[in-house]
Amino acid sequence: MAHGLCLFLLFSYIISTNIHACKQTECNSLLAFASTLSSPPLNWTSLDCCHWKGITCDQDGWVTRLLLPSKGLKGGISPFSLGNLTHLTHLNLSHNSLYGSLETQFFLSLSRLEILDLSYNRLFGELPLSPPSNNIRTVNLSSNNFFGPIPSSFFQQASNLTSFNVSNNTFTGYVPSSICLRSSSLRLLDFSSNVFNGNLAPGLGKCSQLQVFRARDNNLSGLLPEDIYNATKLEEIALPLNSLHGAISDKIVNLTNLTTLDLHHNHFGGELPLNLGKLSKLKFVTLNFNKLQGALPPSLMKCTNLVELCLGFNNLVGNISTIDFSRLSQLIKLDLRMNNFTGMFPVSLYSCRSLKAIGLSANHLEGEIQAEIISLKSLSFLSLGFNRFTNLTSAMKILMSCKNLHTLMLSGSFEGEGMPSDDDMVDFDGFQNLRVLNLDNSNLTGQIPRWLSKLKNLEILDLGFNQMTGPIPSWLGTLPRLFYISLRDNQISGEFPKQLCRLPRLLYEPIASQVDQFEFELPIFGVNRSFPPYKLSFIAATIDLSNNNIIGDIPTEIGQLQLLRWLFLNSNNFSGVIPDQISNLKNLEVLDLSTNHLSGKIPLSLASLNFLKDFNVSYNNVQGPIPIGTQLQSFNTSAFEGNPKLCGAPLPNKCGPNKGIDAYNKNNKDVDNGLYHLSDHQLPWFYISVVLGFIVGFWGVCGSLVIKRTWRHAYFRFTDNVQDRVCVMMTVSVNRMKRKLRG
Ligand SMILES: *[C@@H]1O[C@H](CO)[C@@H](O)[C@H](O)[C@H]1NC(C)=O
Ligand SMILES: *[C@@H]1O[C@H](CO)[C@@H](O)[C@H](O)[C@H]1NC(C)=O
Ligand SMILES: *[C@@H]1O[C@H](CO)[C@@H](O)[C@H](O)[C@H]1NC(C)=O
Ligand SMILES: *[C@@H]1O[C@H](CO)[C@@H](O)[C@H](O)[C@H]1NC(C)=O
Ligand SMILES: *[C@@H]1O[C@H](CO)[C@@H](O)[C@H](O)[C@H]1NC(C)=O
Ligand SMILES: *[C@@H]1O[C@H](CO)[C@@H](O)[C@H](O)[C@H]1NC(C)=O
Ligand SMILES: *[C@@H]1O[C@H](CO)[C@@H](O)[C@H](O)[C@H]1NC(C)=O
Ligand SMILES: *[C@@H]1O[C@H](CO)[C@@H](O)[C@H](O)[C@H]1NC(C)=O
Ligand SMILES: *[C@@H]1O[C@H](CO)[C@@H](O)[C@H](O)[C@H]1NC(C)=O
Ligand SMILES: *[C@@H]1O[C@H](CO)[C@@H](O)[C@H](O)[C@H]1NC(C)=O
Ligand SMILES: *[C@@H]1O[C@H](CO)[C@@H](O)[C@H](O)[C@H]1NC(C)=O
Ligand SMILES: *[C@@H]1O[C@H](CO)[C@@H](O)[C@H](O)[C@H]1NC(C)=O
Repeated sequence: MAHGLCLFLLFSYIISTNIHACKQTECNSLLAFASTLSSPPLNWTSLDCCHWKGITCDQDGWVTRLLLPSKGLKGGISPFSLGNLTHLTHLNLSHNSLYGSLETQFFLSLSRLEILDLSYNRLFGELPLSPPSNNIRTVNLSSNNFFGPIPSSFFQQASNLTSFNVSNNTFTGYVPSSICLRSSSLRLLDFSSNVFNGNLAPGLGKCSQLQVFRARDNNLSGLLPEDIYNATKLEEIALPLNSLHGAISDKIVNLTNLTTLDLHHNHFGGELPLNLGKLSKLKFVTLNFNKLQGALPPSLMKCTNLVELCLGFNNLVGNISTIDFSRLSQLIKLDLRMNNFTGMFPVSLYSCRSLKAIGLSANHLEGEIQAEIISLKSLSFLSLGFNRFTNLTSAMKILMSCKNLHTLMLSGSFEGEGMPSDDDMVDFDGFQNLRVLNLDNSNLTGQIPRWLSKLKNLEILDLGFNQMTGPIPSWLGTLPRLFYISLRDNQISGEFPKQLCRLPRLLYEPIASQVDQFEFELPIFGVNRSFPPYKLSFIAATIDLSNNNIIGDIPTEIGQLQLLRWLFLNSNNFSGVIPDQISNLKNLEVLDLSTNHLSGKIPLSLASLNFLKDFNVSYNNVQGPIPIGTQLQSFNTSAFEGNPKLCGAPLPNKCGPNKGIDAYNKNNKDVDNGLYHLSDHQLPWFYISVVLGFIVGFWGVCGSLVIKRTWRHAYFRFTDNVQDRVCVMMTVSVNRMKRKLRG
């Protein structure tokens, strides 16, 4: 009897330990998986694999979950290891460094898989034709290097699929809209950041549960399929950065749960749906860079949950002062830049107390800024340039009380007015947080006023393309955070103040922790490669004094501005020699000294400026040999021409006792042409510097041009429409520059 009990106990003990013990085959599969990893160790050493980190087993000792996200795993992923875990339901290996491809066998044996998350790895190859299990609910393959089309067979059995995310890979072909025929329970579809192309085929309407549909940054074209408006549970439609066209249908009002409509950078045209305002849950409407026409539908102002309303760079019209924004109490960003709105600054905006960013630049607005704007306590970004606003002095006196204002762009307005003088701004005390001040392109008269010296947070000051006179004030060099100054195209006189060479921000390498992480509320385009349009820190440290009447020497102290990247002193009356100390500016990328009266030799040390990409010393009186065997030879001859006594490569005239005279004669004949050529040759840099004049002032419409040409993966793509407009503006500026150079 006792014997029997003992046996029974032993038997049940064996069973009970087996409950937790992992099967040998499972153990082998896991170890095979671990053996393909190069690092770090998984510490899978104990006997029972069900107790290993990241492993969950069922009662029978089958491994059901393998969850090892963010474990720094490196190595291949093989179907012969993981694929043998036939009872696996959850596989999460996201945020590791796994590579290899998903071979056909991968899904075949994983017939119970429900959750598959392999996102943020380095997996590549095409997706296997064999579909995942019919239990699959979540597929997340985001941020790998998968390519090829998504096989339609992939969804054949996926009737329980709720979430399918393949964003940030290199998938091609059509967006598989047929997915909804098989998987009607889908709630999230994310195809963003791939190279899907062609039309969006109908089918999404069958996804009656679909809440989020994203396909940003692909090559999609054609119209939005009508049946998308049948997916009435949709909360987010995000298809920016494609080439979709057509109008946004009135049927959109059936999507009553819609909160996010993001279609920026497409070719959508027509008018906005008249009843858009019926979508009362709308929070984020981003339709920048399309071809929308007509007026803003008044109903839109009933969307009291709106947080961001961005309709910039379209062809919208209408008198903006008659629009009643006052119910938009949640509105934080309003971007209507570059449209054809008329009227005054809308008074009703003063009631939108949450507003942080207002962009109204490049419209046809007029009138004065009202004192009520002060009631917008959070206002930090204000871009009103390229309108016909008047009374700059009054505007500045009002705006200086906006305590949180950090970006103020008023370029191209207030045409021909006087720069607010110190007499206008007596007891000035304001703009305490201002970082960016753009007052360029306005033909402003007067001198650089002293009240600017109180802007202790100023980082960017652009007063270019005005009619300002008087000297460069020496206190400019004391502004602790200033790193970008443009005074180009004015009538500034006097000498280059030595004090400007002490700009604290340009003296020393910033400590990493002090690097300015400041971001703009609305995007600003710049010219630096891959400039993230929101980041201030990507704007190059610049001093641009070109096209003025500055006399005297280039101070030797300039060598202290070690962080300076762009220096334009061209088209002034600088004389004396090029100081050797310029070669201390190790970060210098652009040095334009052309069209001055500089003499002496080109310092040999200039050749040590490794980052110098553009250099111009043409039309001066520098002489002697161009330092040979240096990178100076890599610049075009036009960078040196117009210096009769300069010789040596890349100029054609060799250095010899009499050659200088020949060159003089030759060059003299060509001067007229040369000047013209100068501006032509320099066009890229003209663009860039013109751009800089605008960049901040005018969201770098022009910068966009440069970006479009050069960087495919810039943040935004640009429509032809916009480019045309940009080109007009650019041509105006460049022509003006040419005239000035000739005259
Ligand atoms: C996986 O299964 C296959 C076929 O059953 C077998 O040949 C292979 O050895 C198994 N791999 C491991 C690591 O157990
Ligand atoms: C393995 O153990 C070591 C030392 O205890 C630990 O640093 C490491 O993070 C563990 N690895 C994993 C994948 O948990
Ligand atoms: C996978 O794990 C990561 C990290 O814990 C988590 O953020 C993610 O939601 C998981 N994936 C799924 C599909 O649950
Ligand atoms: C889908 O999910 C339901 C409920 O979870 C389940 O009953 C059904 O078996 C699943 N269908 C398939 C094909 O797995
Ligand atoms: C992958 O996508 C699923 C479903 O959308 C989500 O739950 C999961 O958090 C995502 N994984 C990561 C690492 O973000
Ligand atoms: C896209 O994937 C790459 C790696 O493939 C990753 O570094 C990057 O952060 C991902 N981008 C986004 C927006 O998730
Ligand atoms: C949208 O749904 C309606 C009614 O449910 C149906 O009649 C119509 O055909 C659907 N539209 C499309 C384009 O599928
Ligand atoms: C909108 O969302 C609510 C709450 O999530 C839900 O109850 C409702 O059914 C949705 N409306 C539609 C039209 O799907
Ligand atoms: C859209 O809503 C209208 C009424 O609000 C309804 O008549 C129409 O059938 C709906 N369309 C679809 C496709 O659901
Ligand atoms: C917008 O204004 C520009 C210039 O004033 C004009 O050429 C264009 O035709 C206008 N567009 C519309 C739609 O009114
Ligand atoms: C500018 O505004 C101020 C204050 O409102 C006013 O006194 C002044 O006359 C205005 N100047 C012009 C030129 O309209
Ligand atoms: C500035 O004045 C010049 C000539 O006086 C004119 O051609 C130019 O259009 C003006 N600039 C602006 C921005 O209005």
